[in-house]
Amino acid sequence: MAKNQANKWTPDSWRTKPVLQQPAYKDEQALKAAELQLAGQPPLVFAGEARNLLESLGKAANGEAFLLQGGDCAESFAEFNANKIRDTFQVILQMAVVLTYAGSLPVIKVGRMAGQFAKPRSSDTETQGDTTLPSYRGDNINGLEFTAEAREPDPQRMLMSYHQAASTLNLLRAFAGGGYADLQRVHGWNLGFVADSPLGERYEDLANRIEDALGFMAACGVTGETVPAIRETSFYTSHEALLLPYEQAMTRTDSLTGEWYDTSAHLLWIGARTHQEDHAQVEFLRGIKNPLGLKCSPDLDPDELLRLIDILNPDNIPGRLTLIARMGHNKVEDKLSPLLRAIKKEGRSVVWSCDPMHGNTEKSSSGYKTRHFENILAEVKGFFAAHKTEGTHPGGVHFEMTGQDVTECVGGAQDIGDEDLSSRYHTACDPRLNASQSLELAFLIADELKDLRVNTKFQPLAAAAAE
Ligand code: PEP
Ligand code: CO
Repeated sequence: MAKNQANKWTPDSWRTKPVLQQPAYKDEQALKAAELQLAGQPPLVFAGEARNLLESLGKAANGEAFLLQGGDCAESFAEFNANKIRDTFQVILQMAVVLTYAGSLPVIKVGRMAGQFAKPRSSDTETQGDTTLPSYRGDNINGLEFTAEAREPDPQRMLMSYHQAASTLNLLRAFAGGGYADLQRVHGWNLGFVADSPLGERYEDLANRIEDALGFMAACGVTGETVPAIRETSFYTSHEALLLPYEQAMTRTDSLTGEWYDTSAHLLWIGARTHQEDHAQVEFLRGIKNPLGLKCSPDLDPDELLRLIDILNPDNIPGRLTLIARMGHNKVEDKLSPLLRAIKKEGRSVVWSCDPMHGNTEKSSSGYKTRHFENILAEVKGFFAAHKTEGTHPGGVHFEMTGQDVTECVGGAQDIGDEDLSSRYHTACDPRLNASQSLELAFLIADELKDLRVNTKFQPLAAAAAE
């Protein structure tokens, strides 16, 4: 076969490659039928929106914006309601305000929402007592309950998750554009249980300052009526592109450009377990034009990363690729620095984002999977420190978080201990920061951003104005 023939991308070219982390569907016919049904559904996002995100991320790659990506580890059918969506959206808005204020930078808000269902697992099976069943792989594949029936992969679950994603996205769009995100409501975003905490007070303080500034601007004629950016915001969606039959069925050509877009979300990322350069996930994602993410774990060496960038962003388009480093608090400086150096030396444009969650998961003495707030914070600090040393831009952060008052990660100002984990442990997969811990972390990152703004030559707004 001629080389360009072998390299030709089609939405199904991934099917000729080795593929990891896929369910074993028993009924091929039922799978095909579900794929066809999905392919006939309307897109969830539009290509133009994905291009807007690409442009904003291009600014983050140049140090002129900051990415805030967050949401559940895994969305679930059981934990789905309007209040949960609203509360997560609201905490992301609060965090964004804190970061914008400190960094004098636009903050790009991206939810791990409206499609974050499929999960990679360390083992294909789970054993309890004498019984071994397929592992839970996310609600779009099978059920969490430990019964043979629930654990059987069911292709119709892809349709159910599509519909849940559609209604989640509908509400997010309404919140973002319909007045909920109006900066005049900055006080109203403070959730009851957060408002009563020390963090709530710190947030109120900031909200007062923003209110004063808005009052001053209104007196000068700048209001939500004259400047829409005050009363509405852009909010994007993202998930791990793991379940490829679903992603392929959602992939369509854009009528304006004739390019392929995966319309299941604005941004899709490749997980740490499926980034092999000759495997199916890399093959699939190289052909779509959405902005992409790539998780970088401590075992990724600089040469492998550069080869992956050659495949995923051969034209070196700023904003096309976000590298999401998830090293662990005790490895971040050692493992991240060689990658930063290699990327800088080769002149590759990327957004560097920090996921301080996935390298810091451990089992608590009470048996729960948890993460320590200090370790999460230490990884963020190590990430900023490595960038400072290498003279590169820390472009964003990536969290597993919820607007609910859960007890899944230990530590933080509320001082959640091991013994508290059982009280409100609701995640379907990894432990999430609760609303108070998320806000606390935002203030701590804000200090890093302020330091960057004040103590380095890096002047984001001046750079933007000079464009
Ligand atoms: C995740 O983001 O939920 C995840 C599984 O991460 P990673 O691929 O980095 O382990
Ligand atoms: Co996770």
